[in-house]
Order: sequence, then structure tokens, then C-alpha cells
Amino acid sequence: MERTLSIIKPDGVKRGLIGEVVKRFEAAGIKIAAMKMLHLSKEQARAFYAVHKERPFYESLTDFMSSGPIVVMVLEAENVIRKNRDLMGATNYKDAAPGTIRRDFASDIEKNVVHGSDAPETASTEIAFFFNSLEICG
Ligand code: CMP
Repeated sequence: MERTLSIIKPDGVKRGLIGEVVKRFEAAGIKIAAMKMLHLSKEQARAFYAVHKERPFYESLTDFMSSGPIVVMVLEAENVIRKNRDLMGATNYKDAAPGTIRRDFASDIEKNVVHGSDAPETASTEIAFFFNSLEICG
């Protein structure tokens, strides 16, 4: 069984998409093993996205990610990293396949509704950023 981190970003929360996103995960047979809502500070957003610190969009991305509450989840299923990325669609909503979360709801490459870990190593680092082991129901 694999785990990954999912984030419903500030745009998704503001637009009332929490239920829609969770529904898609559950309908795909993905278990929600942990979930909470929180509001990142700018510094916390910078730390979470440190891997992108040299990118031109880093300041804007971390401003956006600290602009309002987010919902963070640990998802659990076989091949859940791949399954979650398939449900989300490409980072740029314009390239995302029809029926994916980003294609259906995003309208901006940055404000793209959801985040998902891209590999097993990033999944464990990102899960540990938000959750301790007692908070995850295996
Ligand atoms: P995410 O999957 O959370 O990973 C990094 C985020 O940076 C990405 O989703 C987008 O929100 C944002 N992002 C990626 N590429 C760009 C870009 N070219 N311009 C602005 N934001 C971007």
C-alpha cells in the first residue's frame, strides 16, 4: 500500500471544491488516511516549496499558498501517487486531460486547485511536513 500527500489549495477551498475533490478520491477507491485544514504562513509555504526556490514563480506561488486555508490529506491506495496524479491532470490546466480536477476547475497554471506528491521520496517528505505518525490512520 502506498501513500501520497494531497493539498486542496486556497483557490479550491475558497471555491467550495473540498467535497468535489474528496468525492473523486473516494470514488477512485483511494482511502483518506489523514486530513486537516490549516493556513500556511509565508515562511511555511516557502519551506514546503523550497525545491522550487530558484524558479521565477516561487514568490508568487508562496504568496498564493499562504493566502488562505488549505486542506491537506494523506491518501492511501496501491499506486496512489500515479492514481492521484491521473485524477489531478497536468500542472497546466490547458494540458490536463478532460475529466481531471485541473481541467474541470483550474483556470491558471498557479491556481490549479490541487497539489500531489510526484514520487515516493517526495511523498514521505511532504507527508512528514504536515503530519506526525499518530495523525495517520493506516
Ligand atoms: P504544484 O503541483 O503544487 O507544484 C508546484 C506549483 O507551482 C504548481 O503546482 C503550480 O501551482 C506552480 N507552478 C508550476 N509551474 C508554474 C509556472 N510556470 N508559473 C506559475 N506557477 C507555476
